[in-house]
Amino acid sequence: MSFLPLILFFFLGLNLASITNGDDNHQFVYNGFTSANNLSLDGVAMVTPDGLVELTNDGIRVKGHAFYPSPLHFRETPNGTVQSFSVSFVFGIVPTFSDLNSGHGITFVIAPSKNFSDAIAAQYFGLFNSETNGNDRGHIFAIELDTVKNTEFGDMNDNHVGIDINNLTSLQSYPAGYYEESGRFKNLTLASMEAIQVWVDYDREATRINVTMAPLAMAKPVRPLLSATYNLSGLLMERSYIGFSSSTGATSARHYLLGWSFSMNGGTALAIDIAKLPKLPRVGPKSDPSNLLQIILPVATAAFLVAVGATVFLLVRRRMRYTELREDWEIDFGPHRFAYKDLFHATEGFQNKNLLGTGGAGRVYKGMLLGSKQEIAVKKIPQNSKESMKQFVAEIVSIGCLDHRNLVHLLGYSRRKGELILVYEYMSNGSLEKYLYGQDGRCTLDWGQRFHIIKGIASGLLYLHEEWEKVVIHRDVKPSNILLDNKMNAKIGDFGLSRLHDHGANPQTTHVVGTIGYLAPEIALTGKVTPLADVFSFGILALEITCGQKPMKQNAQGIQQTLVGWVLECWKKGSVVDAVDANLQADYDNAEAGLVLKLGLLCSHPSEHSRPNMRQVTQYLNGDMPLPETISNPGFGLFHLMQERESPTCTPCHIHH
Ligand SMILES: *[C@@H]1O[C@H](CO)[C@@H](O)[C@H](O)[C@H]1NC(C)=O
Ligand SMILES: *[C@@H]1O[C@H](CO)[C@@H](O)[C@H](O)[C@H]1NC(C)=O
Ligand SMILES: *[C@@H]1O[C@H](CO)[C@@H](O)[C@H](O)[C@H]1NC(C)=O
Ligand SMILES: *[C@@H]1O[C@H](CO)[C@@H](O)[C@H](O)[C@H]1NC(C)=O
Ligand SMILES: *[C@@H]1O[C@H](CO)[C@@H](O)[C@H](O)[C@H]1NC(C)=O
Ligand SMILES: *[C@@H]1O[C@H](CO)[C@@H](O)[C@H](O)[C@H]1NC(C)=O
Ligand SMILES: *[C@@H]1O[C@H](CO)[C@@H](O)[C@H](O)[C@H]1NC(C)=O
Repeated sequence: MSFLPLILFFFLGLNLASITNGDDNHQFVYNGFTSANNLSLDGVAMVTPDGLVELTNDGIRVKGHAFYPSPLHFRETPNGTVQSFSVSFVFGIVPTFSDLNSGHGITFVIAPSKNFSDAIAAQYFGLFNSETNGNDRGHIFAIELDTVKNTEFGDMNDNHVGIDINNLTSLQSYPAGYYEESGRFKNLTLASMEAIQVWVDYDREATRINVTMAPLAMAKPVRPLLSATYNLSGLLMERSYIGFSSSTGATSARHYLLGWSFSMNGGTALAIDIAKLPKLPRVGPKSDPSNLLQIILPVATAAFLVAVGATVFLLVRRRMRYTELREDWEIDFGPHRFAYKDLFHATEGFQNKNLLGTGGAGRVYKGMLLGSKQEIAVKKIPQNSKESMKQFVAEIVSIGCLDHRNLVHLLGYSRRKGELILVYEYMSNGSLEKYLYGQDGRCTLDWGQRFHIIKGIASGLLYLHEEWEKVVIHRDVKPSNILLDNKMNAKIGDFGLSRLHDHGANPQTTHVVGTIGYLAPEIALTGKVTPLADVFSFGILALEITCGQKPMKQNAQGIQQTLVGWVLECWKKGSVVDAVDANLQADYDNAEAGLVLKLGLLCSHPSEHSRPNMRQVTQYLNGDMPLPETISNPGFGLFHLMQERESPTCTPCHIHH
C-alpha cells in the first residue's frame, strides 16, 4: 500500500517542529504546536490541547511570552553583520467581549534575553516598562500588531502594524492590511477572530526590513505593507532569542499563534502548511453579561408558572442588586466600563470583611476578579450630581491612560444610581499612613525606604504635572493617598479625583478641596490652584515622612505647633537633622535627611513663587542640582513670614501663642 508511509509521514510531521541544519543556519517550522514542543512560555501563555499557543487569556493587564528555547546566532562571526532572515507566523485575536474593542496586541520579538519579568502589560506589550522603552541598550527588535490607539507612542489608530526598534514609538507603521496585485489596499482587522499570516523579511545587503500580511488562505502579497531601511547590525546581539510577547490592558483578548516558521540566511521562510494548522476556537466573544438577565427573566416566568412568584421575586432582587446606570454617551468609554455584577462578585458583595478603608471620597473594598484572578481595589463614591458625570467620566477615563510606576493604576469604572465606582490595581502594603507615626517607639520604615518613598512620590507628581499630555494637579497629596506596593514602592492614588468635588460643587459656595495641614495658603486666599499647591503638600509630606510626625504636633509644653515651625526651630538651634524621627535611633544618612528636611521647608514655603517645581525637586533629590543658596541657612529670606504667617482659613496650622 503505497499511501501508508505517506500517512505515517503526515502524522509524524503534524504539529512537530522540523529543525534542520546546525546552529548558524537555523530553520524551523511549527505547523501548530504540541505540549511536547520546546517553546519557553511564561506569564499566562500556554499551549492548548488543540495545538494553539494561547499567549494571553481573558484576564486584564496580563502578559504572555513564547520564545524559541535556545538563542540563535544572528552573525556569522562575532563581529560580522547581522545575516538575512525570514520569519512567517499565523496569529488570531479573539476579543473577550464583542461589543468592546480589545487590548492590547501581539508582538514578534528578537531580543538578547527571554526574561521579561520586569516588563509591563497593556501598552508596553509585556516587552518594556517606562524605563526600558526607548533605551538604546535594549537591543530589541519587534513587529507590533497593535489593537489599541495609544497617543503616548504616537499610534495612528487601534488596528495597525509597526516596526519597533528599542522603542514603542514605531520606526514605521501602517493600518493593518495588504496590497492586492492591482495595487489596491485592502484593510484587515487584527482582532477579527480570523487567522492572519505575517511575513517579516530582513535583507542584509540592502539592510531592508519588509513586513507583509494577508488573510490565511492567501499567498504572500508581492508588495509589503511596511518596508523600512534599517541596519540591524547596529541593533541585534550576536546571540538573540526570537519569540512573541502579548499583553492585555483594561480590555482583553485571547491572542493565539497557530504556526511559525523561521530561517536564517536561507531565502524565504519555510512555508507554513496551512492544512496542518489547528483551528482558532469557534466560541465567539461573550456578549455583555448584564444583557443575559433580561432574556432569562421572561423565559423563566413563562416556563415555571408555578414558581412565578418566587422566580420573579428572586430575579427582581438579583437585578436590583446588580442594576447599574448606563447611558448612551458611555459607549465611547466602553473599554473602561466594568459590569457592576463583576465587581459585586469580586468583592463578595461588598462585604465589610473586604473593606480596606473609608476615606473622604468613599469606601474602598478589596476584591479579586473572577476570570483573571487579578486583585483589585474598588472604591465606591456617593455621587448625586448628574450633569457633571459625563465630563467626569471622560476625565477619569483619560486619567486611566496615565501610566507611571509611581501612580496607582486606574483600571476602569462602573456606575449605579447615586454611586460612582472606580476600580484600581490592588496595593498589597496599603497606605503610607499606617507606617508613619511609629507608635511606642516602633520603627516601621528605615531611612532607605523613606528616602525611596519620597523620591517615588516626587517622580509621580512630576509625571502628573509635566510629563503627561495634560497637566494634572492632584490637590490632595497626603499620607493616606500614598500607597505602597509589595516592594514598598510609593504609588500616588486618587489623582484627578478632587475634580469630582469641583464638578459636584454648588457654584454658590466656593468649596475648597484638600486637607487642612496640607493645603497651600494661596488656595484658601484666592481659590486658585496651580501645580505649586501640590508642591506645598509634598513639602509637608516629606517632612512628615522624615520626622514621623503629623503636620500638627504638640511640643514639650503641650502646645500645638506646626511641623514646619518645629523643623525650622531645630534648624535655628543648630541642627536641622534633630528633627528626624527619633524612632530611627540615629540610623539614617545625615546628608540625605538634611536635604529632605530643607527641601521640605522650601516646598512648603508660604509664598508659592518661592517654591521649586517638581522637576527641580526631583533634581535636588537625585543630587543633580544643589539646593538654592537662599535656603543654605535658616535665616533665609522669608523665614520670618513662614513662622508668623497669618491666614484666616488656616488657623489650625498655626502656633497658638
Ligand atoms: C528541543 O530542544 C532541544 C535542545 O534545545 C533540541 O535538541 C530538540 O531538537 C528540540 N526539539 C524540538 C521539537 O524543538
Ligand atoms: C571584534 O571586535 C573587537 C572590538 O570591537 C576586537 O577586540 C576583536 O579583535 C574583534 N574580533 C575579530 C575576530 O575581528
Ligand atoms: C529575570 O530578571 C529578574 C530581574 O530583572 C530576576 O529577578 C529574575 O530572577 C530573572 N528570572 C530568570 C528566570 O532568570
Ligand atoms: C522613541 O522614538 C521616538 C520617535 O523616534 C522618539 O521621539 C522618542 O524620544 C523615543 N523614546 C525614547 C525614550 O528615546
Ligand atoms: C482602512 O482603514 C482606515 C482606518 O480605519 C481607513 O481610514 C481607510 O479608509 C480604510 N481603507 C479602506 C480601503 O477601507
Ligand atoms: C522588500 O520589498 C521590496 C518591494 O517593495 C522588494 O524589492 C525587496 O526585495 C523586499 N525585500 C525583502 C528582504 O523581502
Ligand atoms: C551595517 O552596519 C555595520 C556596522 O554595524 C556595517 O559594518 C555594515 O557595512 C552596514 N551595512 C550596510 C549595508 O550599510
